[in-house]
Amino acid sequence: MSESPLVETLPPVSLISDVGRYDGQPVKIKGWLRNKRSSGKIHFLILRDGSGQIQGVAARNDVSPECFERMGTLQQETSVIATGIVRADERAPGGYELSLRDLEIVGSSENFPISPKEHGVDFLMDNRHLWLRSANQHAILRVRHEIIKACEDWLDAHGFLRIDAPILTPAACEGTTTLFETEYFEYKAFLSQSGQLYNEATAMAFGRVYCFGPTFRAEKSKTRRHLMEFWMIEPEMAFAEQEENMEVQEQFVSYIVARVLEKRKAELCQLGRDTSKLEKVIAPFPRLSYDEAVLTLQKAGKEIQWGNDFGGDEETVLAEQFDRPVFVHSYPVRCKAFYMKADPRRPEVARCADLLAPEGYGEIIGGGQREDDGTTLEERIKEHGLPREAFDWYLDLRKYGTVPHSGFGMGIERVVAWICGLEHIRETIPFPRMLSRLTPHTHLTPARPTGPSVQAPGT
Ligand code: 4AD
Ligand code: MG
Repeated sequence: MSESPLVETLPPVSLISDVGRYDGQPVKIKGWLRNKRSSGKIHFLILRDGSGQIQGVAARNDVSPECFERMGTLQQETSVIATGIVRADERAPGGYELSLRDLEIVGSSENFPISPKEHGVDFLMDNRHLWLRSANQHAILRVRHEIIKACEDWLDAHGFLRIDAPILTPAACEGTTTLFETEYFEYKAFLSQSGQLYNEATAMAFGRVYCFGPTFRAEKSKTRRHLMEFWMIEPEMAFAEQEENMEVQEQFVSYIVARVLEKRKAELCQLGRDTSKLEKVIAPFPRLSYDEAVLTLQKAGKEIQWGNDFGGDEETVLAEQFDRPVFVHSYPVRCKAFYMKADPRRPEVARCADLLAPEGYGEIIGGGQREDDGTTLEERIKEHGLPREAFDWYLDLRKYGTVPHSGFGMGIERVVAWICGLEHIRETIPFPRMLSRLTPHTHLTPARPTGPSVQAPGT
């Protein structure tokens, strides 16, 4: 059966990123108008479709008079289907231009609030759902996607099995002060602060595992590094001690940075990132003990005593001395969570490390070796005032074939902020949850009071 001649003459629909395949030929592009310059004789239309952007050019004689007039009415973010001939052009961003032949309007757009001029951050955050259409936000979220893919690829290639952890949990993992509480029928439950405790169970089943998902911290701090909801990737390894844990982390982070440099150069360039700084991120990373870190900070004039935890400013001073991430290891046990293994040679410090990113981006990874002795762990749970019943199952892991094990958690948004060179973490996630903001447009009002609830039995 012969095909209809009409089908053969219809131009193919192409993504903007693929137009190179059709050089010299007609294509249809489905997208939105980003920007327009017009004179009486010619329209220059910048079109975007999510895959990229391309300039469409229409002189008065190239299209019908109605079409030329229609193009003149287009406003920013009008959705369109444009037909044109692809032309290679070295000067064009992306290397191609579209010589327009027709344009159909799909949805109009009037007075799009975000214009190419500068806007204040509050205004942009109120319009986050629309701000996501702009070039920098595209670049950031593409880098985020690449980072996530790189994490998964590296872990998959190194024998880790992805086994996700629950989000509704009966007990705290990272201290009780940052818990988001919710009702779980007649019980009290919390949004997960970390999947680690569950990872420890799955690591005893599968050896090397990781989970990746949203985690929640009711952080009452308004900083450029904190979100209330962030995504954490958490690998956990049976039969691994803290030294191996750090070796894995430095390989993992070096791979992620190299992968973004390789695959997302254009996006880093769009963001104005100085990539020479990222090129230095090669394992091994320096290791600084907490003791050395305290001395360094004291020399730099910081009022810090042995036993105090570090804040953002201290982390910046420490990281500034290095051109790649630095491990600060062996923190005092009292600064850290209940599950950390104390160093048998020096029980006042934990076998743990934080990885601090260079250029003032702060802690990107927290990790360590876990307490694998049941009796000691039970004491630690008691010392931290945690409900013993909620940890019965966790203590079982030490009863049935306990082994030394270690792991870490890397906050994806902090890594995106660092690799993209962003001033603030809020742009690293499509819809950031911050201290005073739950959705675009809506600033928080006090929640309704909740009734009494009881602690759920552990699982
Ligand atoms: O150091 P943290 O609290 O470690 C844990 O949660 C461990 N249980 C992880 C593990 O060993 N499996 O958090 C880990 C990382 C931090 O280094 C930081 O990158 C990120 O999570 N993070 C945050 N990111 C954004 N906003 C916040 N409020 C964050 N809190 C932690
Ligand atoms: Mg930490």
